[in-house]
Amino acid sequence: MGKLTIRSFLRGQWASIPTPNADISDKSIVVTGANVGLGFEAAVHLAKLKPKRLLLATRDEAKAMRAKQDVEQRSMNKNVEAWPLELGSFDSVRRFADRVESEDFPINALIANAGVATPTYAKTQDGWEITLQVNYLSTALLSILMLPHLIKTTTPTNASRLVIVSSEAHFMANKLTGASSWPSILGKLNDEEYCTASVMRNRYNLSKLLELMFVRELASRLTNPTPVAVSAINPGFCHSRLTRSVESNLVTSIGVRLFKALFARTTEVGSRTLVHPAVEPSERLRHGRYISCCEVAEESDYSLSEEGQEISRRLWTETVEILGNVDPRVNQVISEHLLAR
Ligand SMILES: NC(=O)c1ccc[n+]([C@@H]2O[C@H](COP(=O)([O-])OP(=O)(O)OC[C@H]3O[C@@H](n4cnc5c(N)ncnc54)[C@H](OP(=O)(O)O)[C@@H]3O)[C@@H](O)[C@H]2O)c1
Repeated sequence: MGKLTIRSFLRGQWASIPTPNADISDKSIVVTGANVGLGFEAAVHLAKLKPKRLLLATRDEAKAMRAKQDVEQRSMNKNVEAWPLELGSFDSVRRFADRVESEDFPINALIANAGVATPTYAKTQDGWEITLQVNYLSTALLSILMLPHLIKTTTPTNASRLVIVSSEAHFMANKLTGASSWPSILGKLNDEEYCTASVMRNRYNLSKLLELMFVRELASRLTNPTPVAVSAINPGFCHSRLTRSVESNLVTSIGVRLFKALFARTTEVGSRTLVHPAVEPSERLRHGRYISCCEVAEESDYSLSEEGQEISRRLWTETVEILGNVDPRVNQVISEHLLAR
């Protein structure tokens, strides 16, 4: 059964995480949220392995240029590219996809790492609550638009990789109890009245559960053997600036810092968990699975329950409908590359 216990948390935190050393000289890899934190350290690892191409995606041009310089300096590899990608804007995701298409950028692995954690309700220009859009909807949009590019590079012995950075925080997500009677799950989760302070305190955890459900649904619609090995990964609890929004409160800040000092792994060690599924073999064994600290693990009981699976199927339907209206390529990718279920 998939449960987060103190024991399983500590076992994960103290697990030894292998240093990536695969030969990726013929691989092109994209990392989102690559300017700081886990994404940045993952990019440094990848750059040291000298891939054919390494593309960093960051919120804007200025961050892209800085990230490129920093990764090149740390890795001693001058062959790094960087493009802007703001996940709080569907247009930005579409522009990124246009560029991948127009430059015919081959992608062997996409590490969808960018994410935000904030308990404050605010909407993006697209009208979605920020965490819902950045962590879930835009990540899903990017994943779907990148599928044809990932499929293009696959081989029978080496599937392309889509690695979505989820979290063990999904175990603590509010159960979507009662959601089966909501006319629209995503509509309800976006509704300002529904999003009370207690709902928002749990929003990050929920977004990580939604990512896991997306991975399961997408994976189940790819042909067998899969051309793209899709997985949702948990890097464990790591030092990074992810908790910055809750650290503005002195008491919370002290609590978070203390907890980090006691239990967090370094950003560099945590970042290996992103690189591992993107480059190491046995990718098809990880397909559709939740990977905790480089090992296939059981996701939460709720996610595996009948209710969780039903909600997950409905979420898929709602998600592709919303994203199909954002970009017609979504429906095209689904009809050309995914099985009907
Ligand atoms: N740290 C942990 O303990 C932990 C544990 C489990 C899972 N994770 C997951 O790991 C991933 C990376 O987090 P981290 O810990 O490295 O945190 P971080 O240091 O805060 O990095 C987050 C990255 O996401 C980017 N990002 C945030 N909002 C964005 C947006 N609207 N558009 C594009 N990029 C955006 C950030 O860019 P800016 O610098 O421009 O904001 C940054 O590059 C997240 O998905 C997180 O949920 C982290």
